[in-house]
Amino acid sequence: MPVTAITGSASGIGAAVSAVLRAAGHRVIGIDRANAEVLADLSTAAGREAAVAAVLEQCNGVLDGLVCCAGVGVTAPSCGLILSVNYFGVSQLLDGLAGALAKGSNPAALVIGSVASTQAGAEQQPMTELMLGGDEAGACALAEGLAQAHVAYACSKYAITQQARRLAKPWAERGIRLNVVAPGAVQTPLHQASLDDARFGKAVRDFVAPLGRSGRPEEIAALVAFLQSTQAAFIHGSVVFIDGGMDAMVRPQRF
Ligand code: NAI
Repeated sequence: MPVTAITGSASGIGAAVSAVLRAAGHRVIGIDRANAEVLADLSTAAGREAAVAAVLEQCNGVLDGLVCCAGVGVTAPSCGLILSVNYFGVSQLLDGLAGALAKGSNPAALVIGSVASTQAGAEQQPMTELMLGGDEAGACALAEGLAQAHVAYACSKYAITQQARRLAKPWAERGIRLNVVAPGAVQTPLHQASLDDARFGKAVRDFVAPLGRSGRPEEIAALVAFLQSTQAAFIHGSVVFIDGGMDAMVRPQRF
């Protein structure tokens, strides 16, 4: 039975991924702040270390899959928190669990990015470079200074996508596949909170995908399950958009 660790397993996309992988025969080690096999706060270095240690204990040091879904959106209490959870909460779990994945069978890892990672300017933001350099305090201080949650969110998703792609070569040498799934709007509590927010609600409502609707968590989970399966054995280092056509609409010339 494959063993897969899933962050953010208690809600939204992470809960849907947990359900579909359980149905496919995986033993799931969910990681979340509540209602999970491993209770941890991924916004702090200590919480991430505790999460890694608990997962290693529960999987006896051998992991076949890792899916990083935990994240916070633009309504998070602070911009620094967005970077801490969405970038460092993912990159440190990838680092901490790579050794266990290398011992797994057909190991595969996946990061839930976002179509927001392609937002103009995210690449040039100084906080992006600091995240990629591992400077959490510096990156969060810059994010708090900017205080623009949508910029912090886009940068966190751009940086974690780039980090995953940087890992593609060294992880292939260790036999581990790693991909990024970049959803557009998906009907989850995170998305609902942005719809309900006075600052962002109108912009989110007005930004409609060509297919004319938002996605369902189950639709994202089906793609994740495929990418984690041996049917996707040659897909590695890819960023797969699942967004009802949003990316094609906004930047048809980039792919
Ligand atoms: P959600 O709010 O339904 O689920 C997120 C989960 O992450 C929750 O269970 C939450 O407790 C957990 N989490 C948050 N902070 C945590 C922390 N500090 N420590 C441990 N767990 C923590 O949100 P959703 O929409 O399912 O989001 C999943 C991922 O998908 C996120 O990375 C998000 O950025 C991404 N995404 C979501 C989109 C959407 O429209 N819903 C669009 C694009 C990307």
